[in-house]
Amino acid sequence: MAFVDVVIMAAGKGTRMKSSMPKVLHRVGGRALLQHVMETAAQVNARRVVVITGHGADQVEATLTPNERLQCVRQMPQLGTGHAMQQALPVLDDDGVTLVLSGDVPLIQADTLQALLNLCDGQHLALLTLQIPTPTGYGRLVRNPKGQVQAIVEEKDATPEQRLIQEIYSGIMAVPTRLLRAWLARLDNHNAQHEYYLTDVVKFAVADACSVQAHCITDAWQVEGVNNPVQLAQLERAYQQLQAQAFMLAGVRLADPARFDVRGSLTCGADVDIDVNCVFEGVVRLGDGVRIGANCMIANATIEAGAIIHPFTHIDGEALGVTVGAGARIGPFARLRPGAHLGEEVHIGNFVEVKNSTMAKGAKANHLAYLGDATVGERVNYGAGSITANYDGANKHRTVIEADVHVGSNCVLVAPVTLGAGGTIGGGSTITKDTPVGALTVTRAKQTSIADWQRPVKTKK
Ligand code: UD1
Ligand code: CA
Repeated sequence: MAFVDVVIMAAGKGTRMKSSMPKVLHRVGGRALLQHVMETAAQVNARRVVVITGHGADQVEATLTPNERLQCVRQMPQLGTGHAMQQALPVLDDDGVTLVLSGDVPLIQADTLQALLNLCDGQHLALLTLQIPTPTGYGRLVRNPKGQVQAIVEEKDATPEQRLIQEIYSGIMAVPTRLLRAWLARLDNHNAQHEYYLTDVVKFAVADACSVQAHCITDAWQVEGVNNPVQLAQLERAYQQLQAQAFMLAGVRLADPARFDVRGSLTCGADVDIDVNCVFEGVVRLGDGVRIGANCMIANATIEAGAIIHPFTHIDGEALGVTVGAGARIGPFARLRPGAHLGEEVHIGNFVEVKNSTMAKGAKANHLAYLGDATVGERVNYGAGSITANYDGANKHRTVIEADVHVGSNCVLVAPVTLGAGGTIGGGSTITKDTPVGALTVTRAKQTSIADWQRPVKTKK
């Protein structure tokens, strides 16, 4: 097998996206279109990967992770796909096969590319094509009566008869580099768009009696390109459906695969149940038997075995991560922020926010509360409406709540402060000093009553 050099075309403007962002940086499944193509390219054992940038080149190149096989080539101005390939030639060697990919065709699969490379076999021009009922906008495959490929004709240059052809060129080809080099030298821009078309190499191959092979596939989503936001949304759905299928076949129970979104990497243990409208971002791990209620947003978090996340819970660990311990119960309407590390069987109820805090086994905060920069011991019960005042306007301070403390409702714990083990904090207290082990600490004023109280009456005018 010849060496494979991948060239990814990503210089086009993407005018129809009507966006200031270069087209290949728009996202499917939370990753840039170009990123998807890079990941797939990495699976075909390429000797090098060349990315052709142009429109928004600085921005596009900044998103690529450098490695010894990666090279960027600039195309300025952008005079067509053939012109783009001409810019790549100086970095390609004639002993290899060039695999041409499009930065805006994100869902191409590695096994399809491998089949195309096999068909090329180091000597033929191999085109990836697709049979579709609505070929509008694509280059058409023109074959002779014997079925041999003669040319690719762009929509804008096609005759009405050619427009009826339903076999289209995907934008992906494998071609021996020495032949490509010779053919690219012969391109002109005498066509409807005054562009140098890479697709014209087919004509030259036919003229040179080089065999042209077409690998025709049926999965449209693999070769569908993104030219406008409608197509972007369609590919997003196609991608999410593929992922949903894979998860279900691996045993994950999805209430509705059409209402399930993974924008990153999700790993699931056995017997995971996920209700409708859940979104997973970044790196998320769900342990065995985890149940996720409807409408949850979960990012950068590890949820241990048997934990239940009730509906409308928002979890985002960002860089610090979030952990939810085995058997914990979270939500509904809970919010776990970066650095929330919850132990086994912790309960977090509605409208409770936890940030940069650890909670040991069995601790509970069931209603309307805030825990920030806190270390919470085992079995602590944290009352409704209580908060840690962790920020003095300049610095953040820690609150330590030792094991078995009972914090009543509506308490303000002014950090830094430590509540001694087994203590009780009376409801409505503002705690500014450490509290003793085992004691009841109350800071509120004594309750008094004034008998026969007369309420003010409205004065008559
Ligand atoms: C191209 C093909 C068409 C095929 C279709 C599949 C040509 C002439 N036509 O058409 O036969 O059916 O793809 O999607 O090749 N690009 C550059 N530099 C340029 C122009 C384009 O890098 O000067 C890049 C774009 O960023 C994009 C890719 O090449 O990633 C395809 O360009 P695009 O303008 O979308 O080509 P199509 O008109 O779709
Ligand atoms: Ca295109």
